Amino acid sequence: MEINKIYKGDCIDVINKEIDKDSVNLIFADPPYNLSGNSLNLKNNKTGGAFYKVNEDWDTYDYDDYVVFTQNWIGACHKILKDNGSLYISCTQHNIGEVLFVAKKLGFKLNNILTWYKVNAMPNITKRTYTHSTEFVCWFVKGKNWVFNYDVVKKFNPNKTKAGKDKQMRDFLDFIKLPIVQGKERLRGENGRALHPTQKPEKLLELIVKASSNENDIVLDPFFGTGTTGFIAKMFNRNWIGIENNSEYIKLAKQRLTEKNIEYV
Ligand SMILES: C[S@@+](CC[C@H](N)C(=O)[O-])C[C@H]1O[C@@H](n2cnc3c(N)ncnc32)[C@H](O)[C@@H]1O
Repeated sequence: MEINKIYKGDCIDVINKEIDKDSVNLIFADPPYNLSGNSLNLKNNKTGGAFYKVNEDWDTYDYDDYVVFTQNWIGACHKILKDNGSLYISCTQHNIGEVLFVAKKLGFKLNNILTWYKVNAMPNITKRTYTHSTEFVCWFVKGKNWVFNYDVVKKFNPNKTKAGKDKQMRDFLDFIKLPIVQGKERLRGENGRALHPTQKPEKLLELIVKASSNENDIVLDPFFGTGTTGFIAKMFNRNWIGIENNSEYIKLAKQRLTEKNIEYV
């Protein structure tokens, strides 16, 4: 298998054919949530710019197919993770039930569910439910000796002791406040519109990569999108593997990785 490379193709096929068993230290997966099909957008929003709901073919499944897909890709990830490896899966209310059920059935232990509170979430258009402002990241481990760099994670706590030292994590919890990606970090086309609908915040990946891997480890992302995971892994001296089946997104991820002098194949 090759590292520091984007593989093009379906992640289940690529993992089964190309990635060595028991070889990966950390997997971050941001799969299709199967929430598309409703194209209600807010184009003339005056306060935070236009909002576009995710509405993509790659995110649309028949329910039974979605369950089988979830079983197959999480099963494939289980096979390639090392014994002390971690699997982080990004979810919303749409898929968290299926993810938890499948991962537990495969023998993964659930260590935490991180809640990402999106401080600039899309406004409530229908006024028929509470405003949706959270996503979750489920942290699963394969064996008993998982990596958790507590002292590094402590540095993410903005509050310090009176002596200016890193503080115990009583006020930095499994609850993370971060905006949806915006400003310079957001990859945009010439028309100003985001080039990928679900680009994840670099700060979220930085936390996960630093917490659950060490330098020179292998970090794999089976739904690479714009390459956020590879970008952060490389920045913090980890090896990375990306898998993505959409050529346009691969082009985008390659650009993002090469602009920062990252090698790719
Ligand atoms: C939710 S997005 C990931 C976004 C990414 N985290 C980022 O920061 O840009 C999911 C990505 O998975 C890709 N994808 C969907 N199904 C796939 C499959 N079966 N195999 C490989 N990639 C897939 C989509 O094209 C999409 O780019």
